[in-house]
Amino acid sequence: MTELDFDLFGTEFQEDPYPAYSKLRAEAPVYRESRHGVYALTRYDDVDAALRDHETFRSGAGPAPMPASSGGRAAMTALPLLAATDPPYHDQLRALVSKAFTPRRVAESEGRIRAFAKELVDALPEGEFELVSAVSIPLPVAVIAEMLGVDRRHQDDFRRWSDATVGMMDRPAEPDMIQASLELAAYFRGVLEERRKNPRDDLMSDLLRAEIDGRRLTDAELDAFFVMLLIAGNETTTNLISNQLNVFASRPDLWKACREDRSLVPAALEETLRFDSPVQNLGRETTCDVELHGVSIPKGSRVIVSFGAANRDPEVFDQPDDYRLDRGEPRHLAFGQGRHFCLGAGLARLEGRIALEALLDRFERIEPATPSPKRLHSTVIRGFEGLPIAGRSA
Ligand code: HEM
Repeated sequence: MTELDFDLFGTEFQEDPYPAYSKLRAEAPVYRESRHGVYALTRYDDVDAALRDHETFRSGAGPAPMPASSGGRAAMTALPLLAATDPPYHDQLRALVSKAFTPRRVAESEGRIRAFAKELVDALPEGEFELVSAVSIPLPVAVIAEMLGVDRRHQDDFRRWSDATVGMMDRPAEPDMIQASLELAAYFRGVLEERRKNPRDDLMSDLLRAEIDGRRLTDAELDAFFVMLLIAGNETTTNLISNQLNVFASRPDLWKACREDRSLVPAALEETLRFDSPVQNLGRETTCDVELHGVSIPKGSRVIVSFGAANRDPEVFDQPDDYRLDRGEPRHLAFGQGRHFCLGAGLARLEGRIALEALLDRFERIEPATPSPKRLHSTVIRGFEGLPIAGRSA
């Protein structure tokens, strides 16, 4: 057998990681990546077990797949982000923010999300349009901005700040990324000051009143909530919408089936989450030496948990490289597992459904407007920089 050699942070891998995942799952389920000194878990059962075992695979050193030598990851872990904490502190923080994500709160936002999606989709021209900038980005940005009580005027800045912060998770921080994160911090401090003077009925005002063990949240904790929701709410749902339309643009049979029977829409979204997971890879750090499949992972190692690879594991999903609407109960790990399971999963599903329904209402047919749309180059996030689609109403 030849030695496997994949650069998990390289553009070739990021362009199409699935052939690499397949080899890794079969031949090197615990893969030691020599360039960056990280380990990668790619089998479903291993990823699932590591995510549930937060005592061995901790998040406290940050959720990025990049090793500690990256300045960007150090910047990310300076903030007590929820996804970068461990119990018991994690559970206390999570309890505070989860109020904003109860099924009732999410359901209450449906009408506003639907109105905004309709506005965006109605504005699309007949024929060619670029989906990412026209729908995939503005819809989640508007939803999260409203949730945080932030002015819509700042939506473009939101996007830039959020892109820069995610960029720092898998490559060394560049000056414009650092600049963007400073702007974000300054903007957020302004919002907090304003809310301290004039509390409203929104998440920020709730967090200002919240307490952990009888003390108010620190400024660093408040910053972290803002950064976390900004990234989590922007970068992920955007790519769920894009990845969904990318599949359907080449599958007129499925587009037609969903147009005729809207009860298929949830199954389509779950299959997209599995087939082309918006969050592909995150990281953990081992708290002790771990022995797995004959490989020793030393204490203090960075371990990539690959949601994208796990979701194509043939041991769990029959013919995993086929896109099918009849897989039944979702078993994918696209929203994670265990303590850090995505808090926004309900909201993301709702936004994805509403966006797809609005597009199904509008277009009888869609097709790709370019044979090779530009992929995002990230090890964490899978999606598109731009996705030109041609839509016909009749
Ligand atoms: C399709 C869209 C989404 C995907 C695929 C996704 C995926 C994930 C994944 C895989 C995790 C686990 C992180 C880990 O284990 O380290 C996570 C955590 C999280 N997500 Fe999402 N997410 C999505 C949308 C959202 C939205 C819309 C929000 C909120 C507005 C959100 C908020 C969060 C939060 C707060 C956490 C941290 C939870 C914790 O650490 O306890 N997500 N998400």
